[in-house]
Amino acid sequence: MPTSTNAPDLLIIGAGVIGLATAWRVARRGLAVTVLDPAPAGGASRVAAGMLTPVSELTYGEEPLLHLGIASRDRYPAFVAELEEVSGRRTGYRRDGILEIAFDSDDLAFLEDLRRFRQSLGVPAEALSGRECRRLEPMLAPSVRGGLLAPEDGSIDPRRLTAALLTAAERTGVRMDRRRAAGLVVERDIAVGVRLDDGTVLRAEKILLAAGAHSGDLDGLPDGAVPQVRPVKGQVIRLRTATPFLGRSTRGVVRGSSIYVVPRDDGEVVVGATQEEMGFDTTVTAGGVWQLLRDARELLPGITELEFAEVSAGLRPGSPDNAPALGPSPLPGLFLAVGHFRNGVLLTPVTADAMTEILVDGTVPEVAVPFAPDRFAEEARA
Ligand code: GLY
Repeated sequence: MPTSTNAPDLLIIGAGVIGLATAWRVARRGLAVTVLDPAPAGGASRVAAGMLTPVSELTYGEEPLLHLGIASRDRYPAFVAELEEVSGRRTGYRRDGILEIAFDSDDLAFLEDLRRFRQSLGVPAEALSGRECRRLEPMLAPSVRGGLLAPEDGSIDPRRLTAALLTAAERTGVRMDRRRAAGLVVERDIAVGVRLDDGTVLRAEKILLAAGAHSGDLDGLPDGAVPQVRPVKGQVIRLRTATPFLGRSTRGVVRGSSIYVVPRDDGEVVVGATQEEMGFDTTVTAGGVWQLLRDARELLPGITELEFAEVSAGLRPGSPDNAPALGPSPLPGLFLAVGHFRNGVLLTPVTADAMTEILVDGTVPEVAVPFAPDRFAEEARA
C-alpha cells in the first residue's frame, strides 16, 4: 500500500463551506493543511440559498442553536471583510434584515406564537401589519396578513463564498487534493490517516471530518466515532431578474408550509426549499418545483415573470438533534465538524473559529461546549 510522504499537520475530509473555512483559518495559524475532496465547493454548499438567520430559522426545541447562530451571524462582517481582502473576491454578503410573512390568519397566529417564543429567549422581532410589510416589499401579495422583521439577519451567496474560501485557503498555503477519501486508517486505536480510492494512504497528525451528509460514508469508522448524520434533501430554484424584485430576504408561511426567497445584488433570486427525507436521492422533481413556485407565487405574485435559471437539490446533514457536532471525536486523532443541518452557511465563521481553537490550541471555546460530539454517546448511555 503506497504511503504519502510530507504528512500534513491536518487533513480535512470535505471541501464545503465548513471544511474550506476551517482549512483557511487553521493554515493562517501556521499549520500545514490538506483538504481532500473530488469536487470542492460542490454538495450542499453549492445548492444552499445562503440566508444568515439564526432568528428566523429558530424553531421550538432548538434553543441551544440560537446562541451559536447569533455568535456566527455577528462574526460575519469581520469574517467577510478579511476573506474578501485575502481572496480578492466578493461574497455577496448583505445584512439588510429578513422579513417573515404570514399568508392567512392561521399563519399569522403561528408567527405570533413564534414572536412570543423568541421574546421569551431575549431575541425580540418586530411585528408588522400587512400594510407595513408591503411598504417594505411592494411586490408582496395584497392579501398578506402581517409579518416579523429580524433586522440583524442577512444573506450571502454560498457559491461566491466557497469560491472566495478556495482562493483564500490556497493563498494561505492549503493544499487541495481532488481525490476521494475511501476509509479511515486506525492504528492502536488512533486515527492516523486516510485511505484513498486507489489504496494510497495519506497520513496526518490530525484528521477533521467535514463531509456534510456523507460524513458517515468512510470505511473503517469505529462504532460511535461519528454521530449518525442523515441526508435531508432540499430542492432550490434559481431565477434571474434585470430589475430589482425584492429588497431583502423574505420567508413566508403559506398555509402551514415554509418558503423563502433570497435576492442577490447580481439579479439572482433564489427560492427554497423543500425538506424531504429520501436518503441520498438528489433528483429534482416536478412536484418539488411546483410546490416551491406555488407557494412563492402566493406571497409574491410577480415571481412567475422572472427568468428561470436553474433547479438543483442538495442534502442537508442532519444530526440526531439537528445541531452540529464540533470537536474531538471519541477516537483520538479524529475531529468532527459535522451535522450542521439547515445552518451550515450561517454557522461557517463560528465553526471555523471554534475548530481552529480546538485543533491548534487544544481548547474548546465556550460557545462550542454544548456541541461536543460526546453528547450523543452520553444520550445513548442514558
Ligand atoms: N437554511 C435553509 C434551508 O435549509 O433550507
